[in-house]
Amino acid sequence: MSGMEGWDFGEVDHLSIYTLLDDYAGYETGFYGQHGISFLVDVVAGEVRRRILFDVGQSGEPILYNMEKMGLGPGEVNVVFLSHCHYDHTGGLLEILRAIGKEVPVIAHPRIFRKNLVRSGSRNVGLPYTKEEAEEYGARWILDSQPRELMEGVITTGEIPREERVDFERETTLGLYTIEAGKLVRDYMLDDISLAVRTREGLVVVSGCSHAGIVSIVEKAKRITGSREVRAVVGGFHLIDADDRRIERTVEALREMRVGRIYTGHCTGLRAECRFLREFRERFEKLHSGRIIKL
Ligand SMILES: [Fe+2]
Ligand SMILES: [Fe+2]
Repeated sequence: MSGMEGWDFGEVDHLSIYTLLDDYAGYETGFYGQHGISFLVDVVAGEVRRRILFDVGQSGEPILYNMEKMGLGPGEVNVVFLSHCHYDHTGGLLEILRAIGKEVPVIAHPRIFRKNLVRSGSRNVGLPYTKEEAEEYGARWILDSQPRELMEGVITTGEIPREERVDFERETTLGLYTIEAGKLVRDYMLDDISLAVRTREGLVVVSGCSHAGIVSIVEKAKRITGSREVRAVVGGFHLIDADDRRIERTVEALREMRVGRIYTGHCTGLRAECRFLREFRERFEKLHSGRIIKL
């Protein structure tokens, strides 16, 4: 869909991102924390309002609890977006679909159903249910490897092939494998997709774990939306197991792109968070369950 690159997607009028779940519950909050991510991305463009449920944590319980505490109802969700196969982003789907109580489109990469194995190949960290099981709960799969416009000003990044990633992001920090033709082969997380939202003050990129590399993701989001200003980058950057050099190059690249604000948590890791804090100061914020970002 390279013909779409640089096409004018329009802009949204309002964007609110509700952190329904993060690893960190926050200071003096009553929210539940769990290793995983879930956001409710609430967007308004003209007459159209969409509430996009971006990832669904490991299980539905903490998300549904936090939603209620935030005055949000699962029935308000219009569409579910799954950033990649990992259980800490997809595990809650069935429980949440049950709570939504109606058929709902679920956007993901077509390869999301493959086995995804950690290091030795013994543990599957991929989707903990089948495509068909999710359908029984009301999932209407929309599987697309390419950028897909969800509404005016909102587009998915689509996959980022290894050769399109910046040099220091061509290897995933996690050693991941899959099975192809009966053989254990490296898995470069082609199913990792993110969300790009164009606001009047610039682009907002929302990512789950950033296995494709957060710099490569922001670059792709800029390219497909034709945006110059990056207002904010939100999500997990998976630098928890990255070396100092990769962390340094990531911070440097986002600074050079003049990213306005960084909201991160989950798998970013303390070392990288400290480095981002040092660089971005008051423009850096650590995510936590219950944090509402209004942009
Ligand atoms: Fe994750
Ligand atoms: Fe992940």
